[in-house]
Amino acid sequence: MNLSAREFHLIKNLIYDKFGINLGEHKKSLIVQRLHKELRNGGFSSFEDYYHYVTRDASGQALHVLGDLISTNHTYFFREEAHFDFLRKCALPQLDAALRGRGEKELRIWCAGCSSGEEPYSLSMMLSDYAADNSPGIEFYILGTDIASPALQKAAAGVYSSEQISQIPPLYRLHYLENLFDGRWRVKQSIRKRVLFRRLNLMRREYPFKKCFQVIFCRNVMIYFDAFTRERLAERFSRCLEPEGYLFIGHSETLDRSSGLYRFVQPAVYQKI
Ligand SMILES: C[S@@+](CC[C@H](N)C(=O)[O-])C[C@H]1O[C@@H](n2cnc3c(N)ncnc32)[C@H](O)[C@@H]1O
Repeated sequence: MNLSAREFHLIKNLIYDKFGINLGEHKKSLIVQRLHKELRNGGFSSFEDYYHYVTRDASGQALHVLGDLISTNHTYFFREEAHFDFLRKCALPQLDAALRGRGEKELRIWCAGCSSGEEPYSLSMMLSDYAADNSPGIEFYILGTDIASPALQKAAAGVYSSEQISQIPPLYRLHYLENLFDGRWRVKQSIRKRVLFRRLNLMRREYPFKKCFQVIFCRNVMIYFDAFTRERLAERFSRCLEPEGYLFIGHSETLDRSSGLYRFVQPAVYQKI
């Protein structure tokens, strides 16, 4: 089905308004590729027809499906290893000491844009290992959020192929995965129970959290946003972070350092001032 320049701009602007995803002029073929099945199955006669259907659907379900289709969910276990090293060696001992100093034991981490769960489970494995070695009393909770429901369903199941788990360190594989003997592996309940998955659009003006987080991971998500959206998001994140809390972004992403909200710690790691 042909996507005219006018239809491309209608859909591109809708995606930007609702999800913050900024599709460049060269992404016309991506829209066709991601949406053609939905158009065919729904019996739409044109992209404009589909656009009107989505914008007039009061239930929000059609928009929800558009978000599922348009998001890019590529991820893998222990992606950008330097972050896990930094967390383990520097941030965790410091956050742990601060918690103890206040007589508290709850460490809260938010994976914003968690896709199919590899990132929050990597954190859960690492934190379990850290707790066993250093701090048995620490209680950690990880919230994984995303707009893509199929990715979140995969995340909640916690089942991955042999190829997908190959990035997990051998000792963690031994301790934290169970073999399903059909070429797939399931993350053990002890690791899964620490992670809660929810659908949440980062473009919401306010986030529905009662307590602040000590750590936010929002990696390889902001690459899809423009500078304006990234800055608003960094502001909203700072409202959900405890003072001295850490924000991790992807190594190919940038944060405006002039905002005065964060101090630069090391590449792609910031600390709330
Ligand atoms: C490339 S994946 C990154 C996954 C993981 N953080 C990592 O670094 O491997 C980007 C994720 O951001 C999610 N995303 C994009 N826009 C979003 C939005 N407005 N609200 C919530 N999640 C969003 C996508 O659905 C996708 O799963």
